[in-house]
Amino acid sequence: MDPSGFELLQTAVLLLDESERIVQANSAAEELLGVSRRILIGHPVDVYLGSLTSVLKTPLSGQPWAWLVEIPVHQAARFEDQQQALAGQAAQRETLRNLAHEIRNPLTGLRVAAQLLDMELPRGDLRDYTRVIIEEADRLANLVARLVSPQHQAIEPQCFNVHEICERALALVELEFGRRLTLVRDYDTSVPDIVADRDGLLQALLNVVRNGAQALTETADLDSPVLQLRTRIVHQPVLLHTPHRMGLMITVADNGPGVPAALQDKLFHPLVTGRAQGTGLGLNLAQACLQLHGGVLEFDSRPGRTEFRLLLPLETV
Ligand SMILES: Nc1ncnc2c1ncn2[C@@H]1O[C@H](COP(=O)(O)OP(=O)(O)OP(=O)(O)O)[C@@H](O)[C@H]1O
Ligand SMILES: [Mg+2]
Repeated sequence: MDPSGFELLQTAVLLLDESERIVQANSAAEELLGVSRRILIGHPVDVYLGSLTSVLKTPLSGQPWAWLVEIPVHQAARFEDQQQALAGQAAQRETLRNLAHEIRNPLTGLRVAAQLLDMELPRGDLRDYTRVIIEEADRLANLVARLVSPQHQAIEPQCFNVHEICERALALVELEFGRRLTLVRDYDTSVPDIVADRDGLLQALLNVVRNGAQALTETADLDSPVLQLRTRIVHQPVLLHTPHRMGLMITVADNGPGVPAALQDKLFHPLVTGRAQGTGLGLNLAQACLQLHGGVLEFDSRPGRTEFRLLLPLETV
């Protein structure tokens, strides 16, 4: 392995020795940690990483270094910023959930009244109006149901193989998008079964996978759209400030246009959407579900290469 190649990466990379002291750091790492290489080298890595929510640590064998540490670009914000962002998202979710509750009852009333009126109306052309009311009420009810969803589904942890939900999500995408894109599987079959809320995680994965498929199929003139699903074990990840011995990473990658730059900073906020028909809840709900499991949802995106990563703890230290 030639560490000079790391200079080209946007991802911050550190190489550590057996005692987890920094031996090499690329420019992205210097920039991200706000410390020059000269100072970083020789220091224990923990001093610098304790404040980040997600760090990937891979053991190296047959190399002069013991560990390779990667810090995704968007994890660059300092601990305080991330805490604030998470707290802000939780507060927004709470406000929206309360609002959704307020909307739910009158909406049901409106729909029932429109149905009764529909039955009483003598003329078919008048019933077109009541049907519009009913259809739009149903659309709103769907939105409301999604807004109130996470806290209202009782979480039932089950033991299952993660590839089951990967296959399920891909099957659903295949049904919806058919042959308009190529689906690629890159599974690590040694990933152990996980104990988690199966339906919740399937929904979270599906939200991410559907976004990828939508980005690929809604873009005109895209040559060979490919959606890839990858599973890997990650060693010693730090997730939501908690170190774990092992973690699971599900990566959903696409070669579509990328997340619009204007959305990137607030992508996980509720109601943030770049699509005309989008509600902007998919990623917010997926993030909430992962956090409930002690994990995180993160992404890197540029035109031609977008990656969403679902990271979950497998074992706590
Ligand atoms: N793989 C991707 N490539 C490009 N843009 C993406 C990708 N994934 C998400 N986005 C952008 O992020 C926005 C927010 O996604 P999110 O899933 O939260 O909401 P949505 O898809 O708009 O609506 P819905 O609530 O129906 O999922 C999308 O509208 C899209 O603009
Ligand atoms: Mg979506």
